[in-house]
Amino acid sequence: MNVHATALADAHLPDEQTSAFARDAIDDLSQHPKRLSPKYFYDATGSELFEAITRLPEYYPTRTELSILRDRGSEIATLVPKGAALVEFGAGATTKVRRLLQDCAVGAYVPVDISGDFLRAQADALREDFPGLSVYPVAADFTAPFALPASIAGLPKVGFFPGSTLGNFEPHEACAFLRSARDILGRAAQMIIGVDLEKDERLLHDAYNDAAGVTARFNLNVLVRINRELGGNFDLSAFAHRAIYNRERHRIEMHLISKKHQAVRMLGTSFSFRLGESIHTENSYKYSLERFGALARGSGWTVRKSWTDPARMFSVHALMASD
Ligand code: AVI
Repeated sequence: MNVHATALADAHLPDEQTSAFARDAIDDLSQHPKRLSPKYFYDATGSELFEAITRLPEYYPTRTELSILRDRGSEIATLVPKGAALVEFGAGATTKVRRLLQDCAVGAYVPVDISGDFLRAQADALREDFPGLSVYPVAADFTAPFALPASIAGLPKVGFFPGSTLGNFEPHEACAFLRSARDILGRAAQMIIGVDLEKDERLLHDAYNDAAGVTARFNLNVLVRINRELGGNFDLSAFAHRAIYNRERHRIEMHLISKKHQAVRMLGTSFSFRLGESIHTENSYKYSLERFGALARGSGWTVRKSWTDPARMFSVHALMASD
């Protein structure tokens, strides 16, 4: 056993989720350059901060995607088979799916999310507001294979993956996700997917460096979690949020930058930071319509139709599983 493994074995963490967080955090902070996975942003506070981000004046993706779903709702509805089962990969706020449900004659809705409690609350609210709709929540990690409920076996399947969450995957992971979604949904499946577009770098910069500092709090929340859940001693005032656009790789990168030379401890392990050293916490890839089309084609899908807002800030695509 190496020193890190010994520290973990001695740590008496409360559950498997916390142990996985500890293993990932220790591994990732031992890399050069240091990193932390963006999936650890989303505890209750992180999810609230993300909801606050979606309402910021600088953060255009959420309201722009909603405007496309609203303005193109009737066109989207013509591509969604009547009585289809709509399978949403990851279930956040229900605003976007409600928009689709108003326009499309969907027979069943299957929200898939790792957080079972959140899913059940969301499912209850939807059943109340759409009385004719059958709702079958599935508690699962949507990036890994999972089984769809037997009750929707006979229905045409339409996947829904809004919010440009695809952009938080590395390109090879985005391809693997699209392939897996195709396997899960089956032959002749369709998919409605929201993808953020490349644009003026100033707009991208401002969307991830908002004046109110909400994105900074969201980024720093991963250190708050390490302190609370893994007994870390990160001094939050000694790290600064930085988001930059990496033009060659078509992505916004979020970092936490050490403001001084310092050492931080977590679960008996010490990590030293140089002045200016970064922890790379998130990538948010931006696509052109052409590059997204190529990704979809290389991942088992054909683009049937793409819509953008008039300023071409964001895109929504209707995909069909290729034979
Ligand atoms: C969830 N995801 C699509 C957001 C994005 O824009 O990449 C997460 C986010 N990170 C900073 N602001 C928002």
